[in-house]
Amino acid sequence: MDLLKVDYDKCIKCGICVEACPSCILSMGELGPECNFDRGCMSCGHCVAICPTAAMDNKYVPLEEQLPLPMPVLDAETAYNFLRMRRSVRMFKPQPPTESDVRKLLEVCRYAPTAGNSQGMYYIVISDKEKIRAIAEATAQWMEQEIAEGSSNSRYFTNVLRAYRERGQDIIARNAPMLIFALARRLNTTGVSNAEQSWAYAELYAPTIGLGTTIAGFIQTCGIAGYKPLLDLVEVPAKQKIVGALMVGYPKYKFQRLVERQHLKVEFK
Ligand SMILES: Cc1cc2nc3c(=O)[nH]c(=O)nc-3n(C[C@H](O)[C@H](O)[C@H](O)COP(=O)(O)O)c2cc1C
Repeated sequence: MDLLKVDYDKCIKCGICVEACPSCILSMGELGPECNFDRGCMSCGHCVAICPTAAMDNKYVPLEEQLPLPMPVLDAETAYNFLRMRRSVRMFKPQPPTESDVRKLLEVCRYAPTAGNSQGMYYIVISDKEKIRAIAEATAQWMEQEIAEGSSNSRYFTNVLRAYRERGQDIIARNAPMLIFALARRLNTTGVSNAEQSWAYAELYAPTIGLGTTIAGFIQTCGIAGYKPLLDLVEVPAKQKIVGALMVGYPKYKFQRLVERQHLKVEFK
């Protein structure tokens, strides 16, 4: 099959697919949409998803594999409260999440947006207690190195290290029973942003399957900095880079109320 297959009996030449294509590789021909540059398709499937008459098929996003819409959705108030209720969970039960729960969590991350529909996020899941402790320790050592080199984060890192070293509090990995690392082939802002989007999905979905999460900011920054002892502990495969880290576990406690945020600051011009 060429990139696109248009059922001209069904096509009403409305042009929505042409308008929707983010790569701008479609135009309207005499019979229906035509593809001008086969190689620019990012296989996002918008052309297939938006066609009102199911006339459009795409080699990368076969029409027969897609689900019809609309599906039931949350009403605005439920969605607002659901989004508002997400909180970082830092106190976990000791047992690590089951593989089945972790798979559910990461499965949903596949639907997070990625730059240019690049997708391709790769995850490493660590639940070995000793390894997690060693990862926190490696991160602490990286922070000490950063402080010695006069990093702009020195003051912040010093406070973190005070809790970690002097008071023995695991402020770095929060005694989480599991760490999930997100890896990508390229370490650039795109890879890191893709991981952030992935975590947003994971963090929102987690409570619906009984999990709690918090972004492991120190560990992921250390990983993004390419600190070798951390990369070795995580056993990062060749050609992969750490772009994110997430703590995961079953929450030890339940939140009892919603807290307020800063007021919305916005300008309309
Ligand atoms: C990029 C990023 C890094 C973070 N790193 C950490 C971290 O290392 N440790 C931690 O306990 N929380 C971390 N957090 C969680 C924030 O502290 C938390 O989102 C914020 O305090 C708001 O609380 P909430 O998530 O419960 O609404 C991080 C959050 C983000 C977005």
